[in-house]
Amino acid sequence: MSDFKSNNAIIQWIEYRLPIFSFIDHSVGSKYPAPRNLSYWWNFGSLAGLALVIMIATGIVLAMQYTPHVTMAFDSVERIMRDVNYGWMLRYIHMNGASFFFIVVYIHLFRGLYYGSYKAPRELLWMIGVVILLAMMATAFMGYVLPWGQMSFWAAKVITNLFSAIPLVGETIVTWLWGGFTVGNPTLNRFYALHYLLPFVIVGLVIIHIWALHRFGSNNPLGIDVKGPQDTIPFHPYYTVKDLYGMGVYLIAFAAVVFFAPNSLGEPINYVEANPLVTPAHIVPEWYFLPYYAILRSITFDIWFIPAKLIGVIMMFGSILILLVLPWLDRSPVRSARFRPLYRQFFWILVVDCIVLGWVGANPPEPPYIYIGQVATAYYFAHFIIILPLLSVLERPRPLPASISEPVLKGGGAALGATANPMEKA
Ligand code: HEM
Repeated sequence: MSDFKSNNAIIQWIEYRLPIFSFIDHSVGSKYPAPRNLSYWWNFGSLAGLALVIMIATGIVLAMQYTPHVTMAFDSVERIMRDVNYGWMLRYIHMNGASFFFIVVYIHLFRGLYYGSYKAPRELLWMIGVVILLAMMATAFMGYVLPWGQMSFWAAKVITNLFSAIPLVGETIVTWLWGGFTVGNPTLNRFYALHYLLPFVIVGLVIIHIWALHRFGSNNPLGIDVKGPQDTIPFHPYYTVKDLYGMGVYLIAFAAVVFFAPNSLGEPINYVEANPLVTPAHIVPEWYFLPYYAILRSITFDIWFIPAKLIGVIMMFGSILILLVLPWLDRSPVRSARFRPLYRQFFWILVVDCIVLGWVGANPPEPPYIYIGQVATAYYFAHFIIILPLLSVLERPRPLPASISEPVLKGGGAALGATANPMEKA
């Protein structure tokens, strides 16, 4: 029998036939115990969910006005911007929504890295997250092609062409991806179909992500397991209110960009219609792809019989795929960086390294950027393949508190170890 109580007759009627209210109560309600010490870094999962909903809602309405044909796509987007009621707002929300989605998910991911949320028993939760990230990247890439601007066309051309580096079957794969012998109408059509489909696949993946999360519950800033009811508080109202507050702050920041600087993150040249005969001076992806682009272009030399281009492609995809095996590269039994003095420093070096890669990706592939990119790429992989396994055996972690409630009830500072780290302030 359901343990859900309500005085409302309609809710009782539904609950008896379909126990959906008790399901919600156990998933995100008063019956879901969450660690009592979650910081604001734990807001970013729900924010990612909000970003996804905003993208799907605006995307569906945009699709009602958009025409997926090479002779009309660009004009149909211009029409949305000028003639459709609030079309400019829909498009600016969707355009900047993608950037905000990536900001939120990158913070969410680095939160996981800092607090060791990828470690047992949450490995699969983490791996599903990595698959979500890959699906998001494919969606964003194909969405960017739809307005059929100069950068849409040339980004599509450069990135799809990468597959030609695959030995023997490369050229065939590229022709198959394009649906012809160049980026053209069949390419635009299939990208449109997939761009509409993939967000719903992401919704499915997010449901599995949350399912896996609920198996063991959230990790927490101390990275130690919940030992009993004294370590938890009900998700509702405590974290529902905290999540809503986070969403309010997020929407204010989002609105500021949408209404006051809607083109600040984009490339102006994408307001010029695609022209296969004119190559732009610099082909750069959106900011959230820049670090991968830097990795791709940093391989300027063949290794043995493997051509540089193929190694670049493998490294670019490898930079994300390596996250899938992270739980087995970092063998330290301690989760939170709060108790791992060395790991904490390498975490921040990795953050800086990723920012450097992004900066290199935004610049032309020439000295000195190319060399800086090569060093940053080497460091990125060294972090995962060399530094983490070594730290697992060499580092001496600080003593862990006996329970979550111990430092909380002692006023927060106790047993945390002295830490002057910005990640700890929230
Ligand atoms: C559409 C994108 C995503 C959505 C909507 C989403 C949603 C969520 C939500 C709601 C939570 C619980 C709240 C929280 O811990 O912040 C969560 C936890 C988690 N997510 Fe995601 N997520 C997404 C992408 C990712 C990605 C890309 C990764 C990593 C590669 C990831 C890894 C994790 C991990 C490890 C946890 C557990 C964290 C902990 O308990 O400390 N997620 N996710």
